[in-house]
Amino acid sequence: MTGSSAAELEPALVEVNDLTVTFAGTRWGWLSPSVNKTWAVQEASFHVDAGETLGLVGESGSGKSTIARTLLRTIKPTSGSIRVGEFDVTGFGRSVPRAYRHFIQLIMQESAGSLNPSMTVGQILSQPRLSSRGESAQRQLDRAGNLLVRVGLRRRDLQHYPHEYSGGQRQRIAIARALIGDPKVLILDEPVSNMDVPTQNQVINLLGELQADLGLTYLFIAHDLAMVRHVADRIAVMYHSRIVEIAPSDQIHDNPRHPYTQLLLSTAARPEQDPVIEPERRLDLSTDDDLGPWSSVPHYGCPFVTRCPHAFESCSSSFPEPLARAGLDDAEPDAEGVVMCHLFTEAGRATAG
Ligand SMILES: Nc1ncnc2c1ncn2[C@@H]1O[C@H](COP(=O)(O)OP(=O)(O)O)[C@@H](O)[C@H]1O
Ligand SMILES: [Mg+2]
Repeated sequence: MTGSSAAELEPALVEVNDLTVTFAGTRWGWLSPSVNKTWAVQEASFHVDAGETLGLVGESGSGKSTIARTLLRTIKPTSGSIRVGEFDVTGFGRSVPRAYRHFIQLIMQESAGSLNPSMTVGQILSQPRLSSRGESAQRQLDRAGNLLVRVGLRRRDLQHYPHEYSGGQRQRIAIARALIGDPKVLILDEPVSNMDVPTQNQVINLLGELQADLGLTYLFIAHDLAMVRHVADRIAVMYHSRIVEIAPSDQIHDNPRHPYTQLLLSTAARPEQDPVIEPERRLDLSTDDDLGPWSSVPHYGCPFVTRCPHAFESCSSSFPEPLARAGLDDAEPDAEGVVMCHLFTEAGRATAG
C-alpha cells in the first residue's frame, strides 16, 4: 500500500489517458441488418501507482473488462493512450512484445476453470511460454513447486490434475501460473466471483500477501463496491462506459460525490431505504443484462442522466471534465481524487441557486 510522498513523485506504473473503445457489430432488424457500434469505454483516464491497488467498480456491462482487455492488449483501443511501465501499449503493432506479456497478467473469474484438464499442475506451471528465463525443465519445475507453496498448496500437488481440486484451489493454481513470468502488474477481473464467502476471503488474503511480498501492482475489478473497498487503496467508479469518480477508498465510502457513487453505496448498505434516490430511479443491480440501448450510441452527456435525481440541462449535452474533489465544499477539506459531475461545475451551482 502506498501513500508516502516519495512514491507520489515517481511516475505512475500504469497510465491511461482518454481511452475510448468501440466495437462494431451487426444488428438484425426487421428488413435488413444494420451496423451498430457499441461505445464500451469513453474517454477513461486513470493511473495506478507502483505497489498500489486501484479498484474498478461498476455494474455488469459498464466497460470494466474492456478496460482490462485493452490494458492486456488483447483488444486495440479506438483512441487514447496507455503506458504501462516502459511500454507504450497503444504503440504496439500487431504482435504484443513477449516482455510485455510477462510484465502484465490477468486473473479472472474463469481462470480457475481454464486450466488444461489433461495436464498435471506441474506441466501447467512449467510451460516454456510462461517463463522469460529459458530455464531447464528441472529448474522450471522447482520454481513451479516454490510458487505452489507460495499460493498455499503443496509441492506434491505438481503431480495432480486440476479436476482434483476445489474452485478456490484451482484459482490458487491459476494465480501461481500468472506469477511464473515475474509480472509486475496483475489485472484481477472479478477474481473471486462465484466463490463462497470463506473462499473469497482466503483468495483475497492470498492476493494481499502476494502483493506485499512481491511488490505487485493491482487493478482489481468487481461489481461489488463493499468488497473492493477492503482491498483497494483508491477506487474508480464506472457507469455505462464512463468513469464518473476516482478517490481513495475510505473517501469514496465516507463522502461519495457523484450521484451514482452515492446510489451504489446506499444500495449496498440499505437496499430498502434510500434518502437520495427514490425507488423508481434505483438501479436493479442484480441484473446481468447488457446495457444495450445506451451503449449503441455515444452519449454526449452523462450516461447517468436518466436516473439522476439532480439532473439538469447540461447533463444531457456534455460530459464534464474531471473536477478535483478537493475544495468542492467545506465538507471534506482534505478530499483527493476527481469527480465528473455537472452538479459541481458553475452551471450546476447556478442551477442549484
Ligand atoms: N467483443 C465485443 N463485441 C461487441 N461488444 C462488446 C464486446 N465486448 C464487450 N462488448 C460490449 O461492451 C460493453 C462493456 O462490456 P464489458 O467491458 O464486458 O463490461 P463489464 O466487464 O463491466 O461487465 C457491453 O455493452 C458489452 O456488450
Ligand atoms: Mg466484466
